[in-house]
Amino acid sequence: MNVAAAVGAPSTPSMFAPVSTPAFAIRDLSFLVLAIVTFIFVVVAGVTVYAIIRYRRHPGDDGREPPQVYGSTQIELAWTVVPFLIVIVLFLTTTRYIFAIERPPATPDAVEVTVVGNQWWWEIRYPRLGIVTANELHVPVSDAGRPTPTVITLQSADVIHSFWFPQLAGKMDVIPGKINRTWIEPQTPGTYVGQCAEFCGVQHAWMLLTVTVHARDDFDRWVAAQRATAADLPEVRAGRDVFTSVACISCHSVRGTPGNGVFGPDLTHLMSRATIGAGVAANTPENLKAWVNDPAALKPGARMPAMKLSNDDLDRLVAYLVTLR
Ligand code: CUA
Repeated sequence: MNVAAAVGAPSTPSMFAPVSTPAFAIRDLSFLVLAIVTFIFVVVAGVTVYAIIRYRRHPGDDGREPPQVYGSTQIELAWTVVPFLIVIVLFLTTTRYIFAIERPPATPDAVEVTVVGNQWWWEIRYPRLGIVTANELHVPVSDAGRPTPTVITLQSADVIHSFWFPQLAGKMDVIPGKINRTWIEPQTPGTYVGQCAEFCGVQHAWMLLTVTVHARDDFDRWVAAQRATAADLPEVRAGRDVFTSVACISCHSVRGTPGNGVFGPDLTHLMSRATIGAGVAANTPENLKAWVNDPAALKPGARMPAMKLSNDDLDRLVAYLVTLR
């Protein structure tokens, strides 16, 4: 399946197309390093090619070794001092950039998010806003008039994952028992793709993340919608009863129902998300039905068990789930 199509996102993310403060710095540093190593490559390859051509075996070569040069202080100084200076330049600039992007600019408007890596999905919490969602991060755009970086606290529920939005910031590992922090400050609204960047088991490749960068009012509207309790429509009561009477509720939460499990994604606003299974399929009623029936058919190894519901119960349940907007 085409990932970008599944999530309605732009093409494969490139760290050379940054849209966020730390990513701009990382691109600039990458260009500097690339320029230096390209120069070294051209010099070394050029001298090599020159030597190969100029000193190739000529007809009538008598096979004697050319004069050997030992102990030239000048040559030895040149090939010691120049590489040393190059290493110093790379070391100092890298250090400067690391310190520059280590912490977000202090601002009262920063959005706080906690992202928890799970095999194989991302829980996303906004502790100050009382929102819990999954796999699709939403943040406000940051403009010069009102800088609004998003500060991200990273935790793992199981193994080591790595949080990476190539266009937004560098990689940051997500380690059990340790709290890491990163931040982004996107300056262009849009949807950007991220991915777990540390092998974490069979479905590592399907630990997709997207971030949607909203204009400020759009973000406020998204927050208001996410804070609302779950829809509770009388016409899908039968499906809600299926949800609360089977094992769904031991892993999933839907605010306003007895479901308060925390092992799986919060489903309070399930239908606000574009995909299920962390990007594995578009979030459509047909795919939801297939997923609940047998998650492993879509995502082999998925931790969610097949629910073994009758077809009628499955239809009722899906009819309920699709009202969770
Ligand atoms: Cu999580 Cu790879």
